[in-house]
Amino acid sequence: MSVTALIPAAGRGTRIGGARPKQFLPLAGVPMLARTLAVFQSSDDIDAIVVVVPAGEETSCRDEIVARYGVSKATRIVAGGASRQASVAAGLRALGADASIVVIHDAARPFVTAGLIRRVLAAAESSGAAIAALPVVDTLKRRSPDGRGLATVEREGLWAAQTPQAFRRDLIVEACARAAADGFLGTDDASLVERLGHPVTLVEGDPSNLKITRAGDLRVAEDVVAVGEPGR
Ligand code: C5P
Repeated sequence: MSVTALIPAAGRGTRIGGARPKQFLPLAGVPMLARTLAVFQSSDDIDAIVVVVPAGEETSCRDEIVARYGVSKATRIVAGGASRQASVAAGLRALGADASIVVIHDAARPFVTAGLIRRVLAAAESSGAAIAALPVVDTLKRRSPDGRGLATVEREGLWAAQTPQAFRRDLIVEACARAAADGFLGTDDASLVERLGHPVTLVEGDPSNLKITRAGDLRVAEDVVAVGEPGR
């Protein structure tokens, strides 16, 4: 059994501002993408890494990130698409012949740990599909379309999905193909597998596995690095 990490890093990062995509910007001196890749590079559970970057950034990713930070498992760097789902599909097409399990993890979550990767993988090996997720602790509100009404959403049983999300290769490839054929666009990978009626195992994620989306998140991430990256 061979495990490949697929790292979607092809977002333009427009919500964060800046001339370059956010994953190439330094986070306390080291690009976010390099930090994320380093965790997979040093994990004994990962055999290979496919990195998906914005079209035109393949060479800079190879030179500035993969070569510079010694990510020797990242042998394939491919161009992504207009949506995260299209980028993941591009990464799936670049998998090596021997990959039997795929662990998909957003470049925008650099504080993932080898321990969380291992727990999600173990669950996917037995059930075929598993994701890291956290029980929702906030009270959720839904605003009416006209912006005037507010309703409370029952939070019992709700989980906030994170990555990593791991799947048997045949399952995620089929799920992606079916979604594309149906014109379905999901916000994570598990949602495509759920549409096939296949169960997805929930693995308790890690609150420090932050997703860096807005400029404010970058500042929080700098603080996290400054106090010592948690969970390592
Ligand atoms: O945009 P969002 O923050 O949800 O992106 C999550 C991850 O998906 C990021 O690592 C981003 O680089 C990646 N992505 C991608 N291709 C896109 C859009 C986002 O690989 N077209």
